[in-house]
Amino acid sequence: MRIQMTLMAVLASLSLAACHHKDGGAGTGTTTPPAGDTKSLFDRLGGQDAINAVVDDFVGNVAADARINAFFANADIPHLKQGLKDQICAASGGPCVYKGKDMKTAHAGMGVKSSDFDALVEDLKKSLDKFKVGPKEQSDLLGALGPMKGDIVTK
Ligand code: HEM
Repeated sequence: MRIQMTLMAVLASLSLAACHHKDGGAGTGTTTPPAGDTKSLFDRLGGQDAINAVVDDFVGNVAADARINAFFANADIPHLKQGLKDQICAASGGPCVYKGKDMKTAHAGMGVKSSDFDALVEDLKKSLDKFKVGPKEQSDLLGALGPMKGDIVTK
């Protein structure tokens, strides 16, 4: 009877452990923490170096995008890139503080249309694909930037 109880306790704890490792590399038998649901989006994107690489490429796409590049004809590109890097870092739970203008002030009087915003998001998505950012991270990032649309689009 005692042996049976001990065996049941062992089996129960094993099945709990199996459950626990659901997200952490199936069958490895390691104690890797579950990936995906505990790490910040900042970490899942690959940290600041990965964000910097995406932003540099993305701003290159925007500069080459005839649909919207006229908006940026007089822009201070290094300043814009730094703002985007800090902003994406902060919005994804990273350790940065975005110190630039708020989105309403930064885009006031530009007459950005909804289609311009969508074109810019397309240019961002191209870079996310190029750097092999996964679908969940892409949708989480776009979900963090999407709410800014109301402050940026004025036309
Ligand atoms: C989620 C979308 C967007 C984000 C996160 C974003 C972010 C930013 C940031 C951080 C700045 C710099 C603010 C500062 O000066 O401190 C900026 C400036 C600017 N943005 Fe956006 N923006 C977005 C969409 C757009 C769109 C759709 C357009 C036009 C098609 C646009 C055009 C500009 C321009 C022209 C500047 C001024 C650059 C300069 O004069 O230095 N932005 N934006």
